Amino acid sequence: MTQLGHEALRRYYRWLLEGPHQSTVLGVFERDRLAGYSFGGIFNGALTGFLRENRTFLALRVVTHPWLIANPLFRNNIRLALRLLVPRRPAASAPARAPEPPAYGILSIAVDPGRQGQGIGQLLMRQNEQVARAAGFARMILSVTPTNAQAVRFYERDGWERELVDGAWSRGVMTKRLA
Ligand SMILES: CC(C)(COP(=O)(O)OP(=O)(O)OC[C@H]1O[C@@H](n2cnc3c(N)ncnc32)[C@H](O)[C@@H]1OP(=O)(O)O)[C@@H](O)C(=O)NCCC(=O)NCCS
Repeated sequence: MTQLGHEALRRYYRWLLEGPHQSTVLGVFERDRLAGYSFGGIFNGALTGFLRENRTFLALRVVTHPWLIANPLFRNNIRLALRLLVPRRPAASAPARAPEPPAYGILSIAVDPGRQGQGIGQLLMRQNEQVARAAGFARMILSVTPTNAQAVRFYERDGWERELVDGAWSRGVMTKRLA
């Protein structure tokens, strides 16, 4: 998203703030400067809704930034975006699964690089957890790029566990039970 420029990011965060979500958006400020933020809660099409609302704008951005196609991560994200916009029908033989009760999601959390390691991330997590418990959620969920070692360590120290799929942790999903 960053590669598509400031306006793409502005639209994405605007959708997260104004879309039909039940979200808790937190900021830690030092005077009027943002030191860290998080978006938590239940998001209704955090990515799909954004893509639908902004598809013309995003398509134009891709057309005017063709060199981005050379980046494999960018290509993967384009594939993901297309899959989300054109959902496939589930196979008729797919076994029906009992729906899990919704989990409180941490959609994004970040601390200013100059302010990391000072407890701001923990403060944001504590506050999200408090909101999730008060709202009756039994579980929190997030996904992280598995190679983001700093973030993975941060979550594991905070009691988050890796959700394995077929013994592998390729999707980077982590959960935390709220006892
Ligand atoms: C992951 C991230 C949000 C953590 O935020 P943070 O504010 O640095 O985290 P904290 O300061 O609360 O904790 C980090 C470390 O500082 C330590 N710490 C906590 N309070 C501290 C304090 N008052 N003084 C010094 N260190 C402290 C913690 O014990 C922890 O130690 P560790 O690094 O050995 O695990 C931050 O590193 C970040 O923004 N990363 C980039 C964005 C990102 O990857 N986001 C996650 C995407 S899924």
